[in-house]
Amino acid sequence: MISTSSIRPTMANQLVIIVLVFTSFFPILSGQQLRFDKNGEFRILQVADMHFANGKTTPCLDVLPQQVASCSDLNTSTFIHRLILAEKPHLIVFTGDNIFGFDTTNPARSMDAAFAPAIESNIPWAAVLGNHDQESTLSREGVMKYVVGMKNTLSKLNPPEVQDIDGYGNYNLEVHGAEGSALANKSTLNLYFLDSGDYSKVPSILGYDWIKPSQQVWFQRTSNKLQKAYMGKPEAQKSPAPGLVYFHIPLPEYASFDSSNFTGVRQEGISSASINSGFFATMAEAGDVKAVFTGHDHLNDFCGDLVGIHLCYAGGFGYHAYGKAGWSRRTRMVVASLEKRNKGGWGAVKSIKTWKRLDDKHLTAIDAQVLWSKMSTRRKKEIGRL
Ligand SMILES: *[C@@H]1O[C@H](CO)[C@@H](O)[C@H](O)[C@H]1NC(C)=O
Ligand SMILES: *[C@@H]1O[C@H](CO)[C@@H](O)[C@H](O)[C@H]1NC(C)=O
Ligand SMILES: *[C@@H]1O[C@H](CO)[C@@H](O)[C@H](O)[C@H]1NC(C)=O
Repeated sequence: MISTSSIRPTMANQLVIIVLVFTSFFPILSGQQLRFDKNGEFRILQVADMHFANGKTTPCLDVLPQQVASCSDLNTSTFIHRLILAEKPHLIVFTGDNIFGFDTTNPARSMDAAFAPAIESNIPWAAVLGNHDQESTLSREGVMKYVVGMKNTLSKLNPPEVQDIDGYGNYNLEVHGAEGSALANKSTLNLYFLDSGDYSKVPSILGYDWIKPSQQVWFQRTSNKLQKAYMGKPEAQKSPAPGLVYFHIPLPEYASFDSSNFTGVRQEGISSASINSGFFATMAEAGDVKAVFTGHDHLNDFCGDLVGIHLCYAGGFGYHAYGKAGWSRRTRMVVASLEKRNKGGWGAVKSIKTWKRLDDKHLTAIDAQVLWSKMSTRRKKEIGRL
């Protein structure tokens, strides 16, 4: 587990610099860096589509008739609380439609309430935008700026080194190796967050937005830089650190599967953009991405492997989001585990596993699967040599 000191102070950007200076004097604040815990694990809880509005007065959609009277946004918060206790995540990722703008009277208050369970837990959290977050009185920029200023969040508005980038909330987070290990100062797991937009701004193209060339160039450069650092001295590694990518709207490639080659269910269409902006190809070329996690289609919760990259849904989480009565709200967990080195101590990432948890009495875990393992890469090479 990362130390409690891993919490990012909620200060304006300028103040962060001052805090960084202070961290050398107050080691308690020095753990802003995400890292693998002493058991060699890093645990990520994905919360997709909370659709939070006004709290207690906001009703649930698509629950059983006998559940209507006692159900509100607060059930969404309770579900997060229970998951935190059960899964003890090191990071909570909110993949958009965090609030449902249309039904929100005050977006800031809605966000305060929606993210409160994460904030109160003192676990670092990260968020991206969906297509509904800006449908109240705040613009997309306004919503993301508000998120970035919240307590304990690692969310960022956009990469500081890029002049122009589409969207708000494009950033990456490094997860360093275990404390005291040879990889303690290297990013052994890379997390990328992108803004998949809301709706097309091109009059001749209808429907949802897509990940733009500017964002893809940023991703490409960031992946390249991280790979160079990881595979360079000191402790040069032979292959890139695995990468995981989080955003809201699924890519058109999510439609490449059927029940014969995915784990989970598809109960509605894949609501991606009507054109393909090529982000899947960009990720495949980069070579480090092992899995992509989206939300948006609440009734789909599958994970399928397309040319070595798993494309995964989390399934609908929020009670004010459309769903299916009698089909439990759910979440997706991802756990990356380090390999044990011969001389003791932890090494690089050995495997990445996932499962879902249902909001039922026992938070039933279903559909556990391995998304990636170092072994499989070696095996692939062996097979390639035959
Ligand atoms: C919502 O929460 C209330 C209060 O805890 C509970 O009685 C009810 O069963 C929950 N509803 C659903 C659909 O989980
Ligand atoms: C990592 O950085 C810390 C702080 O600079 C240093 O004390 C430690 O020796 C470094 N560990 C490795 C394995 O390089
Ligand atoms: C999944 O299986 C279907 C046939 O049932 C096939 O058309 C499709 O290409 C497969 N997808 C992948 C990614 O292997």
